[in-house]
Amino acid sequence: MKKLMAANWKMYKTREEAAMTIAALMLAVGMPPADREVLVFPPFTAIECVSAGIGDADGYAVGGQDVYPAAEGAFTGEISPAMLKDAGATWALTGHSERRHVLGESDELVGRKTAFALEQGLHVVLCIGETLQEREAGQLAAVLARQLETGLAGVPKDVAVANLAIAYEPVWAIGTGKVAGPAEILDAHATVRRQLQQLLATGSELRILYGGSVKPENTAEIISLDNVDGVLVGGASLQAESFSRIVLA
Ligand code: G3H
Repeated sequence: MKKLMAANWKMYKTREEAAMTIAALMLAVGMPPADREVLVFPPFTAIECVSAGIGDADGYAVGGQDVYPAAEGAFTGEISPAMLKDAGATWALTGHSERRHVLGESDELVGRKTAFALEQGLHVVLCIGETLQEREAGQLAAVLARQLETGLAGVPKDVAVANLAIAYEPVWAIGTGKVAGPAEILDAHATVRRQLQQLLATGSELRILYGGSVKPENTAEIISLDNVDGVLVGGASLQAESFSRIVLA
């Protein structure tokens, strides 16, 4: 599988800013290297213009930062898989730590989102990760196991490898400048790999991304580690100049 180089723009960028960033990124990267795939998660309002900017260029895709597990209905503020697809998205993020910790999403809701989005034909990046308090209490493996078991509860055991990726993002490394060290990343990704193998028939092959203060300077080392199949980048993905260097690292 290609390495998945994903940008999460969070709650940044108007449509005009998003259109300028995707154009500059594509100019800087050109066709991504054969072993890389570029994925951009803009805010919902900018999905359509990022999708238009990508057009039919190979190696680029766009996704929604969240998705609600219903086809339609009285769910104020939410967005359905069909709406994301209508705007040009082919992917969705589920369980991002800001959804879990700022918006209070449960593992169970994340699991329903993941299963429904896949069922509706979107590809999904399911995010998991421990807080500093959980890590210091020795709960890393238990937290990851709980988030994976519940997050993947409704996912077919033979889910296609191209359709699902897991992003391991230690909460203490997100937006803090504190990147997990190689030993910590190796250990957490090996744990995730073992747990995925127990949960899914395709668990040995699913891509596991690392996220948390990824920068152009640390990308090459991170993606060379065992069981690291890409990155999910927040802050350093906002500028085409830095994200292009991450994609090409
Ligand atoms: O989704 C991306 C992560 O939250 C990482 O954010 O690169 O700003 O630490 P960051």
